[in-house]
Amino acid sequence: MKPASKAAPTIAVIFGGTGDLAKRKLVPAFYNLFLDGWLPEPFALIGMGRSETDDVMYREHLREGVGEFSRTGAPEEKSWATFRDSITYLQSNINDPSSYQDLADLIHALEEAWGTRANHLFYLSVAPRFIEPVTVNLGKVGIASDVERDRIVVEKPFGHDLKSAKELNQLLTRTFQESQIYRIDHYLGKETVQNILAFRFANALFEPLWNRNYIEYVQITVAEEVGVEDRGGYYESSGALRDMIQNHLLQLLCMVAMEPPVTFEAEEIRNRKVDVLHAIKKYSREDVGKYAVRGQYGPGWLKGKQVPGYRQEAGVDPKSGTETYAAIKFYLDNWRWQGVPFYLRTGKRMQEKSSSITIQFRPVPHLTFPSAMSENIMPNRLIINIQPEMDIRLRFMAKKTGLDMALTPAEMVFDFNRCAEGTQSPEAYETLLLDAMQGDATLFMRSDQVETAWDVITPILETWESRPSLEFPNYAAGMWGPENAEALIAREGHTWTVTYPH
Ligand code: BG6
Repeated sequence: MKPASKAAPTIAVIFGGTGDLAKRKLVPAFYNLFLDGWLPEPFALIGMGRSETDDVMYREHLREGVGEFSRTGAPEEKSWATFRDSITYLQSNINDPSSYQDLADLIHALEEAWGTRANHLFYLSVAPRFIEPVTVNLGKVGIASDVERDRIVVEKPFGHDLKSAKELNQLLTRTFQESQIYRIDHYLGKETVQNILAFRFANALFEPLWNRNYIEYVQITVAEEVGVEDRGGYYESSGALRDMIQNHLLQLLCMVAMEPPVTFEAEEIRNRKVDVLHAIKKYSREDVGKYAVRGQYGPGWLKGKQVPGYRQEAGVDPKSGTETYAAIKFYLDNWRWQGVPFYLRTGKRMQEKSSSITIQFRPVPHLTFPSAMSENIMPNRLIINIQPEMDIRLRFMAKKTGLDMALTPAEMVFDFNRCAEGTQSPEAYETLLLDAMQGDATLFMRSDQVETAWDVITPILETWESRPSLEFPNYAAGMWGPENAEALIAREGHTWTVTYPH
């Protein structure tokens, strides 16, 4: 990763410019980069969409999005007026080659006015079936061929399984070199996730303990309160395994388990992550029942409100077999992690939104203190809270205040917000868009990362698809998932951590 700096003059093009992602995430991120002085100069944003609208209405639509979704709130009139002038709407038909000629003409006109050839950033926020027409047509009009300056950003899902992911990668590389392709996993742009690298590799203290000799197990939880909202149609063909485990949770696992990189270069870091994915023990279909648990939420209560079950959500089959929860126990076949379980779990409609990583250390080898003094003794535990709380908590044992010698658990806390000295954390998309504009691919997925991650989950996907669950729904909305997820972790005497005791 490079130190943040302003990128060269850039023209960013959003395919799906009138969509939800553009309104909620992308444009607010560009706007905040502008406010913080990171946007290249000159800069232009072109929104491509089918709707009949014009620049004025399109800019107004985006301003509303910024007001509603940006971390900085409603835009201040003067700043917005400057930023707004960089936005153009281009009405287009994604399948029609002439729309791409219009785009090329617009780009050339801007460059002529600027007197310089700009970097081109094509952001694909479209359904997977449109990736082909976009890449083929961009190739034809010659605005994507500069390997140094033209980049394409592709949103998930990267395929539906290993085969389709490979096809997608082949399709992209017909027009673009791998170095031009930026596959987004927005988890990697989160401040707390990037901090895992700093925590592990900028401190001498933890690394010597970061292995099978001292760590008993690792737990990664991404729990969501929300259900499938209005994405029932998409989610029916996805499920928790594809939607969250294949990408976000496996990426978190890579950050925790990777070897120290030699340099802080994109390829070096991505190589170390792929090593982790390669080391994950692949399960046979017979193993899947032993190591993986799935769940689907039924109706329930969340924060005092009654909420429907998954099968009652819009766009969902009333007999749906799609999992909204998955818990998997993985092992890594390498020297550092041999025999250490990595428990991954994610679910929708869980009791609270909470993403965290727990590193559970082994107990002390010999207990010096008599049992009366040490009845509260607990092994050390490190919790990295990713969201919504953003902190790192190290549990250790201490002497309880008083005349007698008794032990009690204590905690050291690093609080992101308190250490930020009034600076607001940037949103993941701000970091990722800036990196893409600067040509820094560290936090993006390389083709082999994506394919290896699919390879890891393929046996689970295939087994689950061939054996529909007879138990769904098996957890009520507002709970922490199905009971057999407790059994999965309890088998070795481990427990899921309630990561943030409110
Ligand atoms: C997306 C998934 O990638 O991540 C969604 O498709 C999920 O289903 C979302 O809700 C979670 O992201 P975050 O940043 O809210 O944890």
